[in-house]
This record gives sequence, structure tokens and C-alpha cells, in this order.
Amino acid sequence: GKGGYDHYMLKEIFEQPEAIRNAIRGRIDKDRGTAILSGLGLSPRELVDFQRLLIVGCGTSLNAGLVGEYAVESFAAMLAEVEQAAEFRYRNPIVGSKDLVIAISQSGETADTLAAVREAIDKGALVAGLVNVVGSTIAREAGRGIYLHAGPEISVASTKAFTCQVSVLLLVALKLARGRRMSRDEGVKITREILGIPALVQQVLEKNDAIAKIANNFIKCEHMFYIGRGYMYPVALEGALKMKEISYIHAEAYNAAELKHGPIALLDGNMPVVALMNRGPGQEKTVGNVEECRARKAPVLGVITEGDEEAKVACDWTIEVPDCPHYIATIVCTVALQLFSYHVARLRGCSIDQPRNLAKSVTVE
Ligand code: F6R
Repeated sequence: GKGGYDHYMLKEIFEQPEAIRNAIRGRIDKDRGTAILSGLGLSPRELVDFQRLLIVGCGTSLNAGLVGEYAVESFAAMLAEVEQAAEFRYRNPIVGSKDLVIAISQSGETADTLAAVREAIDKGALVAGLVNVVGSTIAREAGRGIYLHAGPEISVASTKAFTCQVSVLLLVALKLARGRRMSRDEGVKITREILGIPALVQQVLEKNDAIAKIANNFIKCEHMFYIGRGYMYPVALEGALKMKEISYIHAEAYNAAELKHGPIALLDGNMPVVALMNRGPGQEKTVGNVEECRARKAPVLGVITEGDEEAKVACDWTIEVPDCPHYIATIVCTVALQLFSYHVARLRGCSIDQPRNLAKSVTVE
């Protein structure tokens, strides 16, 4: 059942500290500052030999993949790409024996992701699944992979699967990096940060009431913008996706750097902006973009780092999140935005666990 919560979605949001603990359990070697991912079945030689990591998925799993791409590039300084699974299969993908392909899927049944797995296997790539549902088709066909251990996700809108996917992708990035360029000390530091994720998520969950209050200001909206840069861009995408699917508000995510290349024309007093402004690379630039939004009268909800007064004064409302590196903040800020969309949808009287037109697993194209 719903364990006392009004909706499965809220229950699953609150399960995240535990789900992430389960996803990373037994997969961290603290002393050597690396990850243990035996399900990948890759020898140390194979781990350094392949030249490119290709990540495929759809929807929320695709957004998680984007975080994975950034993390692999920045930790391991190796080529990583993420592709929407259907695009991958229909574009005569350049993929072969020098590639590791990771297919991300909560259900393990998504038709496009499964087709991408088959295509990549046909072309001779090493293919691994990052799947939640044990024994699902993608898990079986990929043959190798990492189970999320997030527990069953019943709400159609994916929440804990995303944060577990990102947690595991950080481990993948760490593993690839430690086989290449990253020092043990740096690896140890990152393992500590990853082990700290559940506690940080817990701190965000404690803001639930405050976030519910803020949500009251958004129930009449027809449109919204989400902006972020770097690691915060996939967070904007995921935040906007969640808002669309459960509240039916038209929410668009843009890289903050793209605003002035067109979308800023849409901004006025009726276009609220949700901005990822927490401390980290690119933050000052995003704060600058927020000032441009405010100059066009757009009301701004900022996700900011606790105690950051400068960012706070640039916003109409703020959700404060604990200070952490941006690759960890992808999870922390996403949890804040999950709660935000949940409360907006609840206040609008939406059918949160079963949004219109959506199914939990998309087994047709
Ligand atoms: C969003 C959502 C969908 C799924 C997508 C992929 O909340 O649930 O976007 O993420 O259909 O599903 P899986 O991960 O099962 O392959």
C-alpha cells in the first residue's frame, strides 16, 4: 500500500534515502576510492580498452543518462554520449566493438530502449543494462548490467528510479576514472560524497512543508520555464518533465545559456521561471540570467544553496538545498523539484499516480 502517504509518488519520493542506500550498497570500495560493479563483467583491461561510453534511454532515464555523460566526461576525461533510444536505433548508429553501451530503463521493458540494446549487440558493442525490474527483458537481453535495487516504483511519474540511476552512474564514472586518470585520493573523496547522498536527500525531504507552501503560488500557471547550466541542465529537464506529466502545466526546460537565443521572447509576468542557482560552476551566469528574467517581470523560484543571500535576493521564492558538488546536487535539487511538482499537481487536483495519457511502461513505439 501507500504506507500512510496520499499517493505512491509521495511515498516513493520519501523512500529515496533508503532506495539510494540500496542502490550503492556493496558497490563502494572506500579504501581504494573506487566502485565495485561486478555486474558489468568487465576485466580491468576491458575497462580501459573501450573508447567511448554510449548511454541510451527514454524520458526520465534519458535525463539521468545526461548526468552520466557529464560525470564520465569530467571524472574520466573519456568520450561519453547520451542518445534518445529511438533516435539511436533509427540513425544508423556508429557503434562497434570499441564501445560500451549502457541502456537505462526503470521497467526494463521500454520498446525503444530494448530495440537500441538489440541494435548495439548486433553491431558488436559491449552492452550493459542499468535496470530496476529484475528479470525484465532489457536486463535479460543485455546479459550484463547493474540492477538499481530501488524497489518497486508504482507511480507513473518516475522519482526514486532517477535518483538511483544517477547515483549508480556516478559510480560508473568513478570506476572508469579510477582505471584511467583519477588519483586514489580524488576517488576516496568522491566515494565519501556519494555515501553522503542519502543524508543530503533527507535534508531536502524535511523542506516538504515549505515547498508545499511555495507551490500555492503556481497552481494557476499555464506555462513555466526551467533553466540550468552544466549538471543543472539535466535537472531542469527532469524538473520540467515531472511538472508536465503530473500537473499538465506546460513546462519547458532550457539551458540558461540558450535563453537569449530565442526563448526570452516568451518571458513576461505570466511566465514563471524555476532556476537552478545553487553554488557551483556557472552559478553566477545563471544568477545573471535570472536578473534578465526579472527585468521582464517573470516571477522566479530559485533553487539555491542554503544561506546564499546573494542568490536569494534575485528571486521571488527560494528552495534552499544543502551545499554539495554539482554532480551530487543533480540528485539533491531533483528531489526538491519532485516535491514542488507533486504539490502543484496535488493543489490542482490532478490524478497524480495515474496521469492522463500515460502508462508506466511504454512497450510500444
Ligand atoms: C517519467 C517517466 C517516463 C519514463 C520513460 C522510460 O516520469 O516515467 O519518462 O522514464 O518512459 O521508462 P523506463 O525507465 O522504464 O525505460
